[in-house]
Amino acid sequence: MREPRNYKQDSDRPHSKVKPTRYRIGRLLELARPYWWQLTIILLAASLSSALTIAYPALTGQIIDSAVSKNVSELHTIIFLLLGLGVAQAIINFVQNYWMTNIGEKVVIELRIRLFSHLQKLPLSFFQENRTGELLSRLTNDVSLIRAAITNNLISFVQSLLTLILGLIVIIGGPNTILAAARQFNINVALVPSSVSFGPTLLITALILFPVAFLPIIASRSLRRFTKQELTKLSEATASSEEAISNAKIVKAFTREDYEIERYNTIAWQQFGIVRKRSRLQSLVQGGTGLISSAGIAIFLWYAGSAVLSGSLTIGILATIVIYFGILSQPFINLGNLYAQFQTALGAAERVFELLDQPVTIADEPGAPALPPIAGDVRFEQVQFSYDAQTTVLHDLTFEAEQGKVIALVGPSGAGKTTIANLIPRFFDVQGGRITVDGYDIRSVQAKSLREQIGIVLQEPVLFGATIRENIAYGRL
Ligand SMILES: Nc1ncnc2c1ncn2[C@@H]1O[C@H](COP(=O)(O)OP(=O)(O)OP(=O)(O)O)[C@@H](O)[C@H]1O
Ligand SMILES: [Mg+2]
Repeated sequence: MREPRNYKQDSDRPHSKVKPTRYRIGRLLELARPYWWQLTIILLAASLSSALTIAYPALTGQIIDSAVSKNVSELHTIIFLLLGLGVAQAIINFVQNYWMTNIGEKVVIELRIRLFSHLQKLPLSFFQENRTGELLSRLTNDVSLIRAAITNNLISFVQSLLTLILGLIVIIGGPNTILAAARQFNINVALVPSSVSFGPTLLITALILFPVAFLPIIASRSLRRFTKQELTKLSEATASSEEAISNAKIVKAFTREDYEIERYNTIAWQQFGIVRKRSRLQSLVQGGTGLISSAGIAIFLWYAGSAVLSGSLTIGILATIVIYFGILSQPFINLGNLYAQFQTALGAAERVFELLDQPVTIADEPGAPALPPIAGDVRFEQVQFSYDAQTTVLHDLTFEAEQGKVIALVGPSGAGKTTIANLIPRFFDVQGGRITVDGYDIRSVQAKSLREQIGIVLQEPVLFGATIRENIAYGRL
């Protein structure tokens, strides 16, 4: 069996240019563009949800301080406020999740259909060079990996950024920023004395946390590489299983079952090896991020705790700050992790775009006419042909098969009989000379109109997974 050619890397491909990452990210985001307004609404809902989250710590702090000062009416107001926030957030989360899943699935299905339609148009030579299972794997596994990046991750990314900005505003403005906003809505909460602010404490910790965001970014390049390797192995596994299953008769005839099992086993464990490397890197990044944020928490508690001891901070405000800290460190950690996840999707996207970019080499010339009903004069004029652009199979072949005549091609195996038959319906294009049917160069007419008028009886019968009627009528469905 001929070794199929697999393009494992961009650089292996003759016509591929290495594109900058920015271009590839743009192309990935392009997939979400048809849904921009739905995504914008989801984003607004998500931002509202973030804004509400920012209100929690200030209100919690107020509860503690009103409980300490035995202010019952204020306590009640704030508790109702918290309940209202909870209900609002639940509704927002429902809408957000439901729409997000819908859009994500739609994008995936559209991409799959686009990829499948493109595959249908590619020339036969492409399918000889690539393994069926490998293509199927890209159509299913790779496409699925892209989903999260352009929906959930995209939204979380923007949301994290917004929470961070809102959080910084509250930190700099002090607890009264939130309390004053609540009073705008006629909610009766007392402001804290204007001398109270948690500016420096939180700002310093925020600065300590900042480098956390960079850890996953450092690892992202490797993550993208591992993802591509992993998907390549998964493709190989799919291809080898597809071949063994669809050629079950040959496998059994040569009693190669054990060999096929061993082959599949090897590839599957090789894939596991890459998965292990990727998960080790991801866990290291997550662990490292956690470590840095714990250190940040320790430093900050030491700072804030001493402030309470010296009487410059109330316990309520300390609680507020602790919760803010939790809320603010999350977007920091998220931003980096989301970036890393995005890299994973980018690895998959590169493989999908590579397929989408395969040129349709046997395409109709613009404005090509349909071939009129044919009489059946077939002429080969000095035809030069090679399957792989290296060994020439047909040298300067000239002959005429006139209409109405029964022509038999006789020759030793490998002489080129099947090749000649394959060239007439234009399954492959000749490299030199030309083939005419009733005087029309077959490259100058619509391929569909040519093939529709040619009957082919294959040596091996093929059945599609459809009804008997549909199988018999396949050419005229
Ligand atoms: N898909 C392919 N890719 C590359 N080379 C091919 C391909 N198909 C056939 N060839 C080569 O082209 C030459 C002609 O093959 P072809 O199948 O046309 O011969 P044939 O006369 O039909 O032989 P047979 O009598 O065995 O059917 C052979 O050297 C063969 O190895
Ligand atoms: Mg043959």
